[in-house]
Amino acid sequence: MIFETHAHYDDKAFEEDREALLASLEKNGIGRVVNISSDLRSVEDSLSLAERYPFVYAAVGIHPSDTAELTDEDLEWLKEKCSHEKAVAVGEIGLDYHWKEPEPKIQKKWFERQLLLAKEVDLPVVIHSREAAKDTLDIMKALHAEECGGVIHCFSYTKETAAEFLKLGFYFGIGGVVTFSNAKKLREAVEYLPMDRIVLETDSPYLSPEPNRGRRNTSLHLHDIAKKIAEIKGLSYDEVAARTWENAVRLYRIGR
Ligand code: NI
Repeated sequence: MIFETHAHYDDKAFEEDREALLASLEKNGIGRVVNISSDLRSVEDSLSLAERYPFVYAAVGIHPSDTAELTDEDLEWLKEKCSHEKAVAVGEIGLDYHWKEPEPKIQKKWFERQLLLAKEVDLPVVIHSREAAKDTLDIMKALHAEECGGVIHCFSYTKETAAEFLKLGFYFGIGGVVTFSNAKKLREAVEYLPMDRIVLETDSPYLSPEPNRGRRNTSLHLHDIAKKIAEIKGLSYDEVAARTWENAVRLYRIGR
């Protein structure tokens, strides 16, 4: 069985076949899913999916690109959602300097406040960090992110940067990008990372691995990602599935 640590099944890309797709996952070897929210609406939707499917859990948090209009009241509301029995993380939160919208100052403010929230409610964080490695690390160090722990989702930096996140005890979400022909640096980072720090993710509906690059992604494509990691690490597919499952269970602190 494979543990999907990061998907967005509340996305409108799944409007047509969401229920059928989710219902098909277990018999296709996908045993757990953490649905990740990105804005206020998707916090509700993620929790409602988690309530309806025993194998689905939710991360609640606001993506950096959606922080422009957040208020103190929203953060209070988010804090209440953290106590839901199927909320397993705060996320995705972080910094996105590829889309500098809203401006970095605002992104940083809400990254910091949601990181502090995670520590307060004692949940791990799911971090989105794009073209913002230095600021992400600076904030994580300053606020002692190692105390709550979490995962760097869709890790896409170099192995030197991976070493810095490793020092903070974080996990690394590896997804479809690892199969892309131009992702040599990422494959080097995966080769470098200890096997007990890697978790599998798709970021569905985005970032489909080869040979489905460019099409809608689903957790069914995790098999292609696991195969690629097995190849890089010189392990069997089954071993990658089992080890990453153990890691995900530890990361999200849920039963095996
Ligand atoms: Ni995502």
